[in-house]
Amino acid sequence: MQAGSKPHDDRTGVSAIGGLGAQARGASGRLLPEIWMQDGAKGVEQALARLLCAEDDGETELMAAMRYATLHGGKRTRALLCLAAGALADTPAHVLEDVGAAIEMIHACTLVHDDLPAMDNDVLRRGLPTVHVKFGEATAILVGDALQAHAFLTLASLDAPGDNRIALVRELAQAVSAEGAAGGQAKDLSLVGKHVELDRIVAMHRMKSGALVRASVRMGALCAITEDAAHAALYSALDRYSACFGLALQVVDDILDATADAAALGKTPGKDAAAQKPTCASIMGLQAARQFALDLLRDAGEAIAPLGPRAEPLAQMLQRATAYLLKHAPCA
Ligand code: IPE
Ligand code: IPE
Ligand code: MG
Ligand code: MG
Ligand code: MG
Repeated sequence: MQAGSKPHDDRTGVSAIGGLGAQARGASGRLLPEIWMQDGAKGVEQALARLLCAEDDGETELMAAMRYATLHGGKRTRALLCLAAGALADTPAHVLEDVGAAIEMIHACTLVHDDLPAMDNDVLRRGLPTVHVKFGEATAILVGDALQAHAFLTLASLDAPGDNRIALVRELAQAVSAEGAAGGQAKDLSLVGKHVELDRIVAMHRMKSGALVRASVRMGALCAITEDAAHAALYSALDRYSACFGLALQVVDDILDATADAAALGKTPGKDAAAQKPTCASIMGLQAARQFALDLLRDAGEAIAPLGPRAEPLAQMLQRATAYLLKHAPCA
């Protein structure tokens, strides 16, 4: 059977968070973030394992490398954002999990290519040797290519109406286009060794990382909510939320690159300074960058406040991101 057209298993229930299932709620009725995030990440990882599985005649090295790139760790932030936005409607769990898996495939593709010798030349990712170190550079390039294809195959084969599938494909393609992550990565490389103003770094961050975060949130909603005049306020709130979240995510990454150790990061620390990359942290200073990230996460919370209780999982994602920053970059 072709990848991307593999049937989902027999779970037919509404998403634990989409339907606000009882098992994810405490006695007070409050949604328990530790439960839905853990269950959600597990569901997405099961979808990844199913969608990226060996052909009948055995696993090729390429597929082994694709599984290595996607199934070994990662915070699953983008997939969880998709699930959290999916809670705005009653989207079935298996649909959200497949969409989350497609997003994680694309994210992994950007990481594998980001680590290549021609880009950041990194040897450690998620605590393991990077894909090109383990499998060779040619395979790493092909892993990125194939993960992109499998992500779009997954969306095209989704158990959802055609209009929704087209909207999702368009959204994800835009996020990695020349106006999104690919363009942002090109800007990132072009700024090496340069003294630049903060607004150019912010614009680059919005493209290289922010675009996929924005798509992750929007895709959770687009599974079930048409972007039309009746939902303009909702999508506008989500856009403000995701713009703040996406920028904060990269600012935090830049801070931790300068402050955390390899054990905490699962990546080589100090790479940005060594490669002479201007970052928010290098331009603003660490404390100001830290405050900038905290302010962005607070602004994101304000953006979704009017959306009511269904936006609780999105608010919990902000609490998670804030706790991550405070844990790994405590105030000096
Ligand atoms: C790393 O993203 C790359 C950036 C865009 C900052 P994450 O920090 O979300 O990486 P994983 O998925 O948890 O490994
Ligand atoms: C990468 O930014 C953003 C991507 C689009 C992959 P970084 O180069 O800072 O990410 P890390 O630090 O290697 O994860
Ligand atoms: Mg990079
Ligand atoms: Mg990098
Ligand atoms: Mg980084």
